[in-house]
Amino acid sequence: MTLQLEAITGGYGDTLVHRDLSLALPAGQITAIVGRNGTGKTTLARLIAGELPLQGGAIRLAGYEIGGLPAHARARRGIVTMPQTGMVFDTLSVRENLHLTGGTPDQIARIAQTFPRLGERMAQRAGSMSGGERKILGFARAMLGNGKVLVLDEPSEGVQPENIQRMQAEITARKAAGAAILLLEQNVSMIVSIADRVHALDTKGFTFTLERADIAREAVLAALEI
Ligand SMILES: Nc1ncnc2c1ncn2[C@@H]1O[C@H](COP(=O)(O)OP(=O)(O)OP(=O)(O)O)[C@@H](O)[C@H]1O
Ligand SMILES: [Mg+2]
Repeated sequence: MTLQLEAITGGYGDTLVHRDLSLALPAGQITAIVGRNGTGKTTLARLIAGELPLQGGAIRLAGYEIGGLPAHARARRGIVTMPQTGMVFDTLSVRENLHLTGGTPDQIARIAQTFPRLGERMAQRAGSMSGGERKILGFARAMLGNGKVLVLDEPSEGVQPENIQRMQAEITARKAAGAAILLLEQNVSMIVSIADRVHALDTKGFTFTLERADIAREAVLAALEI
């Protein structure tokens, strides 16, 4: 399903972070947004998830306006977000965190095999895992959520290359299954490897867009140097 942001405005009360921002997330594509710290990537993820209220514009999922719906109603329609922080329940075990996604036992077993770190720690309390391990668990939760739109806020932050590779394979598989994916990342290698389109973000909005053929390391780095 395609997600369309139409001239959305929002932020924190009077402090608007985004003004009239438009973006299409086509089904079966990985759309990346690159921008320096504080340009509003996380705020955008929260506006899409419904954690922050829209102060203008519309969000359409397969044509239907969902911009006024609460977060749980958007989640039910298939918008799954991996937040940058707070993506796991610290007091619950790894197993419980995975089960709460609604994933089937087979899906959970598969993801625990894909990321052996999780498989080895099923009984461990999520809050006692390392930062990188929690990221992997948060990512696994997002993959089990059966989302039609996946919003991933810096999934690779603090994660070792081997597990970033595994994340990339998972994201690419979801793309092949038709999900619309928004990747908010500063990891240039990950973007170059898997993104179909890259939008460069600064504090005033999008500055330029790269299509697949133009997504190279230098061009993506330029978005981080604005
Ligand atoms: N709860 C909040 N209240 C007020 N301002 C906030 C709040 N959270 C973030 N901001 C501000 O909104 C702006 C955008 O922040 P945001 O976290 O969306 O950026 P980001 O692109 O995700 O940065 P990073 O790359 O560091 O994750 C920043 O100026 C930030 O200080
Ligand atoms: Mg952020």
